[in-house]
Amino acid sequence: MARHLLLFSTLAAVCKGFTSPPSGIWSARSHQTTTAPCSAQINNEDDAPINNHISQLQSRFQKYRSPPFHAPNIERVLLLSDLHCDYSENREWLSNLAATDEHDVSSEQTMILIAGDVSHDLQILRWTFQTLKQTFAEVAFVPGNHELWLDKSAAEGDKCADSIDKMERIIQLCLEEDIRIGPVKVGSLWIVPLLSWHHLSFDSEPPICSESWAGIPSASRTVKLGADYRKTVWPHPITPLDDSVAQLMDSLNDVILDFDNIDEWGEDATILTFSHFLPRVELLPEKRYLSLPTLPACSGSTFLESRLRELNEKMLSKTGGMKHLHAFGHSHLAYDLVVEDVRYVHVPLAYPREWEQRRRSLEIGTMAGDEGHRRFPVSIWEKDTNFPSEWLGGWWSKYYTIMKREPHRTKELAPWVARRFKQRNSAAIVEDFNHVKMEMKHKLQHPSHWNAKGTWYAEKETMKDKKQNAS
Ligand SMILES: [Fe+2]
Repeated sequence: MARHLLLFSTLAAVCKGFTSPPSGIWSARSHQTTTAPCSAQINNEDDAPINNHISQLQSRFQKYRSPPFHAPNIERVLLLSDLHCDYSENREWLSNLAATDEHDVSSEQTMILIAGDVSHDLQILRWTFQTLKQTFAEVAFVPGNHELWLDKSAAEGDKCADSIDKMERIIQLCLEEDIRIGPVKVGSLWIVPLLSWHHLSFDSEPPICSESWAGIPSASRTVKLGADYRKTVWPHPITPLDDSVAQLMDSLNDVILDFDNIDEWGEDATILTFSHFLPRVELLPEKRYLSLPTLPACSGSTFLESRLRELNEKMLSKTGGMKHLHAFGHSHLAYDLVVEDVRYVHVPLAYPREWEQRRRSLEIGTMAGDEGHRRFPVSIWEKDTNFPSEWLGGWWSKYYTIMKREPHRTKELAPWVARRFKQRNSAAIVEDFNHVKMEMKHKLQHPSHWNAKGTWYAEKETMKDKKQNAS
């Protein structure tokens, strides 16, 4: 699974606060309270220089500060991430979206959120934006890791000095092509793009036991082997070997998202945030199920989770109930899962070979089926019905809807993971996944065994049964 996810970078650490400019909703936010664990001893004993550098880099982006854009005509919001338009198959699929009338894409009322990883190539990124704008009324975008890779083969005018320079070029490209990078307000819906980067200390769950299994690279080795480490360049002393890249990218949200003139979100507000990286480790399968068990080290940001939690608490205090959906990308594992009152959805286009090798883990909502041309970005908000009332899909989120998360099982590997590594002793266990599937089947038939999240899936199953009975 996800060979591309070896592509990332970072090693642990510094998470002490820095001074960011006060900016509306985020002004009260304390960076010191982020959940990122501190281990400043790694290589930044004195945080002040780092924080000064981050502040200087922040000021470079001040000119891109974006106040809320009002889009009252939008009646539907679609989601897609990980377009990887370097692949001709994916470019062809995107070009054909405009030609389908099955999903009414020509509607002037449709907006699409693109949650990162379109391409490292600025020409392909521009082509993708132009193609999307020909099809949808509004397009909003956050960069992923691939966008910030430096491209040695780029045309002379597209060469960038470092990944911050590349970030600025991407923002300029968005502005040139009328792509939204700031907040968008659609009636009572707030759409908020959030910049982020992964860092090693995001992974809070125990590693697979190295005394039981041989051959699994350490988390820090995984980071250093990744393409993100090799293909991004950061101005000293910002480095992927601590938390400073993740901290820097998070800090740009304070600069770019302009909420200064917004007094209140409104009593009936609904929030739709989106990022490329994962805000929670629960949005990946446990390590024993990952072909590379140290993958979580290159996957997410606790800075991001901290922002989401703050937004969600702010909204819950006013309205109660679930009013927050967060869309993410990066993992190439379709998800629709509720964790602590936030609904998390991932709709990847992914690589053509992944659809051939493991279609079930990519399918979600209308992005499904063995005929690629019939797949379509998933609707995650509609004017009349708000967020989807049904569970959208995603095999692994179904698993965690009905099964417990048990990260302490560190001596076990799933069969498809175990065959890649070597058992060191008899304590190393290959999980009987056929038994797991039987347990899942049993639980599906007896929803009373599920955890609370399961009710949602049960409702979908009940509706499906009703439809079948009716026909
Ligand atoms: Fe990614």
